[in-house]
Amino acid sequence: MENTYGTLVNDCAKFFVDSFWSDKAESGALTTGQRSSLLRRQEAEFRNRYGLSRSGRLVVARSSGVGEVVGVAGVEIGDVVAGKSPMDDVPIMSNLAVGKQSRRRGVGGKLINGVENVVTSWGSDWLYLYVETTNAKAIKLYKKKGYRECGLDKDAKSLVPLENGGLTSKKVVCKVMRKRINGSFFQKLFNT
Ligand SMILES: CC(C)(COP(=O)(O)OP(=O)(O)OC[C@H]1O[C@@H](n2cnc3c(N)ncnc32)[C@H](O)[C@@H]1OP(=O)(O)O)[C@@H](O)C(=O)NCCC(=O)NCCS
Repeated sequence: MENTYGTLVNDCAKFFVDSFWSDKAESGALTTGQRSSLLRRQEAEFRNRYGLSRSGRLVVARSSGVGEVVGVAGVEIGDVVAGKSPMDDVPIMSNLAVGKQSRRRGVGGKLINGVENVVTSWGSDWLYLYVETTNAKAIKLYKKKGYRECGLDKDAKSLVPLENGGLTSKKVVCKVMRKRINGSFFQKLFNT
């Protein structure tokens, strides 16, 4: 069990590098050096967040044929520091990515449903997420799924795979969005 789950977490980290980070590469593709550096960081981050002894959970979408990973999303308990009302110990969704060949087929939406099911089983009322203000397609997806902006994080940082083969950390602005997952029909309708 430990080994199987450990392998799954590493597979998902590898998938995330190829689908999320290659999208961010200035040249449109990662160099071998950028890829191995990001893979090391991503495997460590995924083990730290979603390893067996951790409270975070990974939701994985697989192709119907050979069962290869086509999408991942993670959720864990954390603190939301930005926004009108900072919150401690709330569920935060992160690391959502769909493989390039599988996009615009509803996989992203289904992964979000899967994360919401996890949060429902935890009995939490709200699910939060951070998204860079420049990531228009993800913002459109989150809005379509009922997430609404509740603040801005102006102090966030993200790595950028540079055209010259390096990696640099850049300041970015993120929207904080949230959705009411549990609650009465009317509370959910108005997201209050
Ligand atoms: C954002 C991402 C997860 C969307 O996954 P997906 O499986 O393609 O999304 P879905 O097929 O479920 O799309 C649902 C809706 O989201 C919006 N959407 C998704 N991709 C879009 C795009 N490229 N352009 C415009 N709208 C888009 C649309 O409203 C779409 O509905 P429609 O297809 O009926 O128009 C995917 O593009 C991705 O992995 N991007 C790179 C990683 C990333 O940015 N992750 C988000 C981190 S916060």
